[in-house]
Amino acid sequence: MPTIVVASPKGGAGKSTTAVLLGTELAHAGAEVVMLDCDPNRSLSLWADRSPLPSRIQLLGDVTESDIVRTIKQHDQDGQIVLVDLEGVASRLVSRAISQADLVITPMRATTLDATVGVRALQLIAEEEEALDRKIAHAVVFTMTKGVKSRQHSGIEASLTEQGVDLIEPPLMERAAFSALFEFGGDLRTMPAQGNMEAARENAALFAQAVYQRLVRNV
Ligand SMILES: Nc1ncnc2c1ncn2[C@@H]1O[C@H](COP(=O)(O)OP(=O)(O)O)[C@@H](O)[C@H]1O
Ligand SMILES: [Mg+2]
Repeated sequence: MPTIVVASPKGGAGKSTTAVLLGTELAHAGAEVVMLDCDPNRSLSLWADRSPLPSRIQLLGDVTESDIVRTIKQHDQDGQIVLVDLEGVASRLVSRAISQADLVITPMRATTLDATVGVRALQLIAEEEEALDRKIAHAVVFTMTKGVKSRQHSGIEASLTEQGVDLIEPPLMERAAFSALFEFGGDLRTMPAQGNMEAARENAALFAQAVYQRLVRNV
């Protein structure tokens, strides 16, 4: 079954938030999800400590460079979706995770600085493709997007599209409920209301569907 790796060398790009939203939405839709916390800052493990994990989600913490490949191989055979959250660096651990991916997702804020650092993830993927002699599907999702798209956002979007980058629609909007996941744990259904919950849930569900469609296409 598919392995999804969330990767960007940019810290604070929204990787862990994307991983939690995607994992909880896929599990809610009926998938068995194994989340691997490969970040020494342990964002996913801290999320998991806050509340009981939602049904169909298993979290493995402290996965390191030496056991990442084995751990992914062990779990992606059992009809489960493996979802990997990484530190915002370029490291051997990140490369090894990418080498096992059926889909790499790079979350990116639509600002020039973030996009400049974020596209380095695409370089890492290209290097793994070269080493392994296989294509690795990848897609960018804009995160912390505001209701009104800035000119900078539109410019970055146009530039990525021109480079042939697959952009996931919808982007993940800036939502109080999304940052509150790490305060309350659980998912968007179990947390106390934060801002417009219905809009947050719809955004997360449509994003997860867009990712799922890519998996079905690729696997
Ligand atoms: N879509 C979003 N809406 C609101 N806050 C967000 C969103 N995405 C990320 N954040 C917040 O931004 C910060 C960085 O996000 P995080 O997912 O930890 O990034 P990374 O894992 O790439 O370092 C966190 O405080 C998180 O709560
Ligand atoms: Mg993180």
